Amino acid sequence: MILKAINTFIFKTRQYKYFNYLFIFLSLIATRVVYAGESSEVDLSKTPFEIVESTPKGKIVNPFDPANPEDAKSGHTVFMETSCNGCHGGTGGGGMGPPLSNKRWVYGNDTDTLFRLITLGSQELQKRGYTRKARENVRAPMPSQASGAIVIESLTTERILRIITWIQSLHIDK
Ligand code: HEC
Repeated sequence: MILKAINTFIFKTRQYKYFNYLFIFLSLIATRVVYAGESSEVDLSKTPFEIVESTPKGKIVNPFDPANPEDAKSGHTVFMETSCNGCHGGTGGGGMGPPLSNKRWVYGNDTDTLFRLITLGSQELQKRGYTRKARENVRAPMPSQASGAIVIESLTTERILRIITWIQSLHIDK
């Protein structure tokens, strides 16, 4: 009885083998979408160092949207709270550190590069294969903002990504 049922089932599905192909094809697409979603998410509960160590080069992506004024504004608040403005100026125009609001980028302006620069500092960043592409008027190393002499405890992964969102928002052509 059961065997017969299975037999009928197989026979029927054979008849619909094109549906089977379609089904396999659709599941493949679904797996791809899920996989892509997972690989591009930053785990905000990890520390900046854990993110830097565990994410392959080029793969740290920004979950926030620089085009969203709310996201950008909250990033600027964190920027001021963590004293980046001491070197880069309150509006990112530069000072002891280079400007963040101009179009010249020392190492690059993608989220991955900026996240590693802020976390590791410029010297450690270069040791890890990120090269200097341009020179700003200020030529000094940037200390790691997440360790060393100036441990900024509050500089969590989420807060660094928020600051980056604000920096990137300065470069959206309005
Ligand atoms: C002690 C001064 C100092 C502080 C504090 C500081 N920076 Fe920097 N920053 C620098 C210097 C100097 C450079 C240039 C590094 C180089 O040329 O290698 C730099 C470079 C940068 C760049 C790259 C700029 C470009 O044009 O490519 C970014 C982005 C940046 N800093 C963000 C931050 C953020 C965000 C903070 C706060 C969490 C911060 N900095 C705190 C001194 C500082």
